[in-house]
Amino acid sequence: MNYRHIYHAGNFADVFKHTVLSLVLKSLHQKDAAFFYLDTHAGASRYDLSSAAAQKTGEFRNGIQRLWDTDPLPALADYLAAVRAANSGATLRYYPGSPAIAQFFLRPQDRMVLIERQPDECALLKAVFTDDRRVTVLAQDGYAGLKAHLPPKEKRGLVLIDPPYEVNQEFEQVVAGLRIAHARWASGIYALWYPVKSRPPIERFHRALVASGIRKMLLVEFSPYPEDSEFRLNGCGMVLVNPPWKLEETLRPVLPWLLAVLRQHPAGRSSITWLVPE
Ligand SMILES: C[S@@+](CC[C@H](N)C(=O)[O-])C[C@H]1O[C@@H](n2cnc3c(N)ncnc32)[C@H](O)[C@@H]1O
Repeated sequence: MNYRHIYHAGNFADVFKHTVLSLVLKSLHQKDAAFFYLDTHAGASRYDLSSAAAQKTGEFRNGIQRLWDTDPLPALADYLAAVRAANSGATLRYYPGSPAIAQFFLRPQDRMVLIERQPDECALLKAVFTDDRRVTVLAQDGYAGLKAHLPPKEKRGLVLIDPPYEVNQEFEQVVAGLRIAHARWASGIYALWYPVKSRPPIERFHRALVASGIRKMLLVEFSPYPEDSEFRLNGCGMVLVNPPWKLEETLRPVLPWLLAVLRQHPAGRSSITWLVPE
């Protein structure tokens, strides 16, 4: 497996995913009690957008670069503040990735575990967080981490499952991982990211999620391209298990706004629906 997120850092899928992530993490500030954050597929974090790899695809130009140059909706202010915190001046150079974005929302009492299986990526990740005692970085399999780290002692928090989907079975592994995690910690919030290329695997994925018997699953999808090519990332989605109160209401105006900024084609679309209600 040779996936490296530097080629995709800050693209439309990251903007969508990290907007949702930021809103969920922000909602955890409503209580003083500590929360726990687990990132099962953390990546390297802190991506240099001026590097040859990021410049080669230039994907960030149709993603975070567009937001960087825009006045955001108030609901996106915290996410953009997290991206600005990774940069020292007015020029966008670094993209923080989910671990550094989550760190932006950690309070002194909170804790996070970051798992990244690829040794080189994990070494980069460790270097970013060496001085932060709230953060543990582990070079392990993220799915095994669901068993090892759940339930957390904090009793509240979020698990992000964000694999690269390089193999066909990744959808099945995500569902299996969620089932194991939910059996151990039913009250946790889970955010599962997935790519939208062709519809049949996604329909199977959704059916498998419904068949798991897990309740309270919100489905958010975002596609700046028409869904007419299975060879391109047309869009992406997130399944949110136990989404925070009012997240749906907050996201409703955010999705069309993001689509207006990131749209690549008139057939682009976004949606928010309950896959399984409470
Ligand atoms: C899509 S990237 C993560 C992006 C990151 N979550 C973010 O939003 O900034 C997926 C990462 O998962 C790693 N990975 C792949 N299989 C893994 C596994 N079984 N366990 C843990 N990490 C894995 C890859 O090396 C890659 O860095």
